[in-house]
Amino acid sequence: MQHTRQRLLGLLADGHFHSGEALGAALGVSRGAVWKQIAALNTLGLDIYRVPGRGYRLAQTLELLDRDAIHSSLWPKTRQQLAELAVLDSVDSTNSYLLERNPASSGAVLACLAEHQHAGRGRRGRRWISPFGANLYLSLNWPFASLPPDFSALGLAAGVAARRALAGVGFDAIQLKWPNDLYAEGAKLGGILLEMRGEPPGPCRVVAGIGINVAMPAEAAVDVEQQWIDLARLAGGVAPSRNVLAAALLNHWIAAFQVFEREGFAGFLDEWRAADLLAGRDVEVTDGRQRLHGRARGVAADGALELETAEGIRRVVAGDASLRAAASERARETG
Ligand code: BTN
Repeated sequence: MQHTRQRLLGLLADGHFHSGEALGAALGVSRGAVWKQIAALNTLGLDIYRVPGRGYRLAQTLELLDRDAIHSSLWPKTRQQLAELAVLDSVDSTNSYLLERNPASSGAVLACLAEHQHAGRGRRGRRWISPFGANLYLSLNWPFASLPPDFSALGLAAGVAARRALAGVGFDAIQLKWPNDLYAEGAKLGGILLEMRGEPPGPCRVVAGIGINVAMPAEAAVDVEQQWIDLARLAGGVAPSRNVLAAALLNHWIAAFQVFEREGFAGFLDEWRAADLLAGRDVEVTDGRQRLHGRARGVAADGALELETAEGIRRVVAGDASLRAAASERARETG
């Protein structure tokens, strides 16, 4: 079934009209079977129009993820490190896929990409809306022999590496919002979710997942609960290649994880500070238990957020931050 769907998408990818009959003939299935596959793709978040007399057409041209194209664009040292690159059609979550790997394979560097996630996960139990073929959903499994220095700053280093990857494909004004968000033009472009397994300080592994909005379809965006932006918008309406972006992210993430494992956060700190969205601004920070207000004073050498409050400087090691103006607007809306 998945194979037929892949071939159907390959035929529709040009963005032209294809009749149900021609599609059925090319795939060796009935017109009814074509219709069923198209209905299924529509429910995954892909926009396919049907115009009587003309057939089916994708709302926009589609570049499917191509494992070979991604693999051949990896730097030789990335290829050496990476034991496995899985490119999936649809999965619950690329993070969950890697977390569920058995201990024999989870001691290696593994990566997973998917066209669609039906239970994509964000930080703090939030959903990550993941329509088919539109954005980038990528996870990396990284085994650590022992806990690296500044372990709690690993997500910040991953943010710096994602920013490097984006700059390498032409997006050079990306900001970082503590702890793990990518921002552009004041809106969220992407986010990073880190999940750890093991018994620190002994051997452990981290599954790091990143979602980047590439060309978010309007229908899917209705479910996104914060202000968002995508790369297509930043590039004047033209979405960049997801395959090129995936390879760039893998190259920079794998290189960064290796450096972090040896040296901790030090090699990332200056770049993080230069891209800090919150520095000098009034923010509200919550760690799930308490809510703090203050002026963000940047990140410390271990990745903690330094907050200037009425009671003096407070260090926040984990939590969620939002700009104070935005937070009070939300309070007005809900109150
Ligand atoms: C956030 O900003 O809340 C983090 C979002 C992380 C989303 C990515 S998409 C790939 C990977 N798989 C998931 O289920 N989540 C991460």
